[in-house]
Amino acid sequence: MLRTVKQIKAHEILSTSAQPTIETVVTLDDGTSASASVPYGTSAGRHEAFTLADEDPKRYRGKGMLKAAANVNEIIAPRMMGADVTDQREVDGRLVALDPTPQRRELGGNSILSVSLACARAAALTKGIPLYRHIRECYGLEDRDYVLPKPMVVVIEGGQHADDSTDFQEYLVGVTKDRGGRENVRAAIETYLHLKPILKKNHYNTNVGTEGAYAPAGIKSNEAPLAYIEQAIKAAGYKPGDDLGIALDPAASEFFENGAYNLACEGKKLSSDEMIGYYEDLLGKYCIFSIEDGLGEDDWDAWPVMNRKMGSRIMVMGDDLTVTSVERLQKAIDINAINSILIKPNQVGTLSETVEAMELARRNDLKTIVSHRGGGETTDTFIIDLAVAAGAHFVKVGPSRGERVVKYNRLMWIADELDL
Ligand code: PGA
Ligand code: ZN
Repeated sequence: MLRTVKQIKAHEILSTSAQPTIETVVTLDDGTSASASVPYGTSAGRHEAFTLADEDPKRYRGKGMLKAAANVNEIIAPRMMGADVTDQREVDGRLVALDPTPQRRELGGNSILSVSLACARAAALTKGIPLYRHIRECYGLEDRDYVLPKPMVVVIEGGQHADDSTDFQEYLVGVTKDRGGRENVRAAIETYLHLKPILKKNHYNTNVGTEGAYAPAGIKSNEAPLAYIEQAIKAAGYKPGDDLGIALDPAASEFFENGAYNLACEGKKLSSDEMIGYYEDLLGKYCIFSIEDGLGEDDWDAWPVMNRKMGSRIMVMGDDLTVTSVERLQKAIDINAINSILIKPNQVGTLSETVEAMELARRNDLKTIVSHRGGGETTDTFIIDLAVAAGAHFVKVGPSRGERVVKYNRLMWIADELDL
C-alpha cells in the first residue's frame, strides 16, 4: 500500500511550561490527517539535537517557535510532497537529507521530529492499526513477543526542575516485580500518593516541580529523599527492593563545574572517583536499582569505572551522555561505560534514528528506557507506542498533571488491548 503526503502544516502551540513548542499536521492523499507535537528538555544535554527557538525577546521571552514552524511549512513541506508515509525509513531519510548537520542546526530537531512523528501517526491511521503495531511493521519487529515496559515514575524533583530542592534532579520509583500493565502503574503511582503525607509529616511542602513530582524546598541533602521514598513504598503496601525500587537521575552534568561535582545543598565538591564512592555508599543503604547520568556527559574516563563497580547490581544509564545517538552509544558500548540507555526521540530528531539507537542497545544487551522530557511536554503519547513497539524495558514519566498521566493512560489502554 502506498500512501503519500499531500500537505504538511506546522503550528506554534504552548507546552506545559507555557513556553511554545511545535505541532505538525500531516495530510495524506486519501484525506487521512494526523498530528504530532514535540517536547523539549530543561536540562538538555550539550550533544543532543538542537531545539530551534526564535530568540526574539519580544515574543514569549525569546522562546517563540515561529521559525521552527516556518522551517516545516516553507522548507520541509515542499520537499516531502509525495513521500510514502508507510515507509518511515524513506520519510526519515528525506528529512535527514534536508539537514544532515549532526545536531540539526539548520532546520532544528524540533521541526524535523514533528514531521517524522506525524507521518508515522498518519500512516498508522490510514492502515487502521494501532501506532505501536505500525512502528513494528516499519522496522521488522513484528515477530517479537510484546513485553510491556514497566513504569519508572518521578516522585521527587530537584536540580534544574525545582527551586531550593536537592542537587539531584530526579528520584523515581520503578517497578521491579512485574504485576501486569495496569497493576504496575498502580503500584508506582500509589507510592507517589503515599509519599505526600510522609513529606508533610517531615515539614516539607508538597508543591510539585516541572514533571509533577514533589519538590521539597529546603531539603538539606541528596540522601534524605531516599528514606522517605522507602517509607512510601512500604506505606503503599509494597516491599522496597522486591516489588519496587528507587532510581536516581542526578543529571550530574548540571552540577559538574571546573572538574568537580558540586553538591551545593550539602556543601561538598567531589572528584569523579569520590562521586562514584558517594553512589556506592547509597547503594549499600537503599533499594536503588538504577542511576542515570550519575556522571557528567563528557566525563568519559569515569563512566567505565562506575559501570565496572556497579553494573552487575544496578542499571548504569546514559542520558545526556548518549543523547539517543548511535555514535555516542557505540562509543559507550566500546568502552563499557553503561549497561542501559535513556531514549528521547527529540534528542536525535527522527523516529528511525531513535529506533536504530534502541536496536543497537538491544543487540548489545543494554536495557532501554523511553522517557518524557522535563521541560516543555505536550499531551502527545507517541513515546508510549514507541516503547511498546520496540520492547523498551521501562518508560520514565512524571506522576501527575495532564501531559504526564495521559502517557500512563495510554500505557494502560495498550495493556488492556494486548491483555498484558
Ligand atoms: P530534561 O531532563 O528536563 O532535560 O528533559 C530530564 C532528564 O534528564 O531525564
Ligand atoms: Zn536524565
